[in-house]
Amino acid sequence: MGLFHCPMGSIYRDDDPCIDCGLCEAITKEDKIKATEIIREYLRSHTKTINSVSKKMTICGKGGVGKSTFITLISNVLSELGYSVLVLDTDESNPGLYRMLGLDKEPKPLKNVLRGRSTDDSSPPPEWLLNNEITTSDIPEEFFVEKSNLKFLSIGKIIDPFEGCACSMADVARNFLDKLVLQENERLIVDMEAGVESFGRGVERSVDTVLIIVEPSFESIALAEKISYMADGIGVNKVRAVLNKIPSKDIEVKIQDKLSGLNIKSLGSIYFNLQVNEASFEGHALGESEAKDNVKDIVRSLLNGE
Ligand SMILES: Nc1ncnc2c1ncn2[C@@H]1O[C@H](COP(=O)(O)OP(=O)(O)O)[C@@H](O)[C@H]1O
Ligand code: SF4
Ligand SMILES: [Mg+2]
Repeated sequence: MGLFHCPMGSIYRDDDPCIDCGLCEAITKEDKIKATEIIREYLRSHTKTINSVSKKMTICGKGGVGKSTFITLISNVLSELGYSVLVLDTDESNPGLYRMLGLDKEPKPLKNVLRGRSTDDSSPPPEWLLNNEITTSDIPEEFFVEKSNLKFLSIGKIIDPFEGCACSMADVARNFLDKLVLQENERLIVDMEAGVESFGRGVERSVDTVLIIVEPSFESIALAEKISYMADGIGVNKVRAVLNKIPSKDIEVKIQDKLSGLNIKSLGSIYFNLQVNEASFEGHALGESEAKDNVKDIVRSLLNGE
């Protein structure tokens, strides 16, 4: 079995990190379910985070639901509240998150430190990336762009035809998330690619909170159910929905009803907002808006442990 499918990153069953879950040899559905139960138990009992505090958060959902928009708004709100915010872009396609955040350039991608992966750097991974734990102060300056108390990091993008798949970027993201140790006042917000592929690769296995952005569409709600199932399966304790692009109270109540029928708790709603839409069209930073006020309420709920 390949590196990506072993939840512990083992290549062989007799490797050190192997937990004998049996997933790599599972053939029947029952075997796979049994193996994922062992993995979930292991990950839950070895979590490095305090369950009630959301420190490492990934933002997931269908393409175009507003993940990057929400990430920008929540990062701005948290940083205005005095938190040191790290935004990690793991979406290998979207080009504009740094602009939404009001930054003028992207940092050097973390994928460049993978040996043989990049065209501009073929040296072995540096010491800081090989350590068992990484703190923010270990990350060299070239790998982030910052403004006030917000740091933006990127795994990298697929740029050229025939460049290859994004598997090795998922590997960098998973290892980085795993090793990153946050201080009391730090919060990590991760922009995920659309869909559930990252869960299949176990990228989110060390995050404490998965926020699913849900827009008023059948597909978006159906995907929320799938994400909730996947997140639970890899041992994430807290899975919450955030409703976005809501056009009316009536629709908001209908989505909330559907989500509670799926056992997915909602943190709040962001109404459809023209300012947000125009800024995104023009490639401008997201400033003050009613959408940001909506996100302030959502952050309040999150900080209250909801
Ligand atoms: N609350 C909102 N009101 C209006 N437009 C929104 C809102 N949230 C997102 N959008 C728009 O939806 C589009 C997709 O948003 P984006 O954040 O890029 O989605 P994703 O990252 O999930 O692909 C953008 O044009 C953005 O401006
Ligand atoms: S038994 Fe589980 S942990 Fe061990 S190598 Fe196979 S999939 Fe990985
Ligand atoms: Mg995006």
